[in-house]
Amino acid sequence: MSLWGGRFNGSPSESVFALSRSIDFDWRLAPYDLISSLAHLDGLENAQIINREKSQEIRSALQNLLLEVRSGKFIANPDDEDVHSALERGLKEKLGDLGGALRAGRSRNDQIATDVKIYLLEHMNYIEAMILELADAFSELAMGYLDLAAPGFTHLQHAQPITFAQELSKHSFALERDLNRIADWRRRTSVLPLGAGALAGSRLVPDPERNIDRLGFTSLAGNSIDAVADRDFIAEALFIFALIGVHLSRIGEEFTLYASSEFSWAVIDDAYATGSSIMPQKKNPDVAELARGKSGRFIGNLTSLLVTLKGLPFAYNRDLQEDKEPIFDSLDQLFLLLPPVIGMVKTVKFNRDKISKSASQGFALATEIADFLVERSIPFAQAHEIAGEAVRYCEVKGIELDQLSAEDLVKIDPRLTPELLPYLQVDGAIASRSATLATSSKSVEEEIQKIRNRFKKIAGEIKKNQDLMSKVLFL
Ligand code: ARG
Repeated sequence: MSLWGGRFNGSPSESVFALSRSIDFDWRLAPYDLISSLAHLDGLENAQIINREKSQEIRSALQNLLLEVRSGKFIANPDDEDVHSALERGLKEKLGDLGGALRAGRSRNDQIATDVKIYLLEHMNYIEAMILELADAFSELAMGYLDLAAPGFTHLQHAQPITFAQELSKHSFALERDLNRIADWRRRTSVLPLGAGALAGSRLVPDPERNIDRLGFTSLAGNSIDAVADRDFIAEALFIFALIGVHLSRIGEEFTLYASSEFSWAVIDDAYATGSSIMPQKKNPDVAELARGKSGRFIGNLTSLLVTLKGLPFAYNRDLQEDKEPIFDSLDQLFLLLPPVIGMVKTVKFNRDKISKSASQGFALATEIADFLVERSIPFAQAHEIAGEAVRYCEVKGIELDQLSAEDLVKIDPRLTPELLPYLQVDGAIASRSATLATSSKSVEEEIQKIRNRFKKIAGEIKKNQDLMSKVLFL
């Protein structure tokens, strides 16, 4: 059934209908469309466009339809063009012609923008909760490794020894930024477009402000043309998801490396690994690999929408219908991906021996020598040279820096006195970096405590937002 056609002599050809129909992907917006219809109905009744009696009839039909949509009793059919026409069909099945009354004072243009916003405001809460769970899982995991020294890498080469807890908790910090981005996004997205009509607002519904609170928004759009044209909130959400995807991808890459037999650092729990159909000995880190692999899709979805929006004149254009599949796909993929990634992180075990043994390898303590000399007033460039000589000395002798004796040190340079020796032990080197932000276990623990306190606050905010959306959506 079509929502238009009065001025046409014929109906569109089948191929045009096939091209323009969106019901296959926008049906998931049905409950949101009904909820904003209930709000719109109140506006029409309040403005005395629809009298109380009729309005009551429409209201109970909408409420029943909402139940039927949620239970699967009412479904879209292949003749429906989009979610709006499917629901109007449902309403007319219940009310006859009265089912068409709701169309007064609004347009699919402000409707669709409103539906997608409410849908995203709800679903972002779930994404946020999962990201928080993952961020917190890393900080909890890290707390178990405050006493473990590990090699830190730059260029994937041994750089300096670090506390392994710092290596693990770094992901909490990246994910915290994702959480903050979501909170920023929510502030900008909570602007209600309903009332913008096709593009010029409506004289039939004079007070669209009344819907702000009940639909879970914080303010009303300020320009009706922008309100129906704006898809920034989708682009921003897609960027947030793309960056989350990039973070998950980097985590995936590290876990894949750590689980390789060359590293043998991580043992991924059987529940989060898979086998090979031909090689019986294989245990593959598929969750980590898919976390790495899905990122292409998240980035692609962002790019796809940005290209659609580029060059579009403001107000509604049918191109905007292309906004939905990218955002639904990114959300669906995150819902699929995050639970196993969280599970993998919560259950992974690390091989302490292997990690601590390699902490001092690769001359990772060379910077300690340079720092020691600088503390004794030798300019860093010169100190760097002398530390380099110590590395060369060890290479020739086939030893690591932590195996140097006091006699070795003076041979390399008389300024390398025995006070240097404690810094040439991994534990001493790590403990000496006790500044804020540095790698001593004390500094690392303090920062983990702080971030976990911030996570508690974020958990409270998420709960508040979930409660708000439950009220809006009658859940
Ligand atoms: N299915 C459309 C979309 O997703 C709904 C809005 C249609 N508006 C219009 N003027 N044809 O964008």
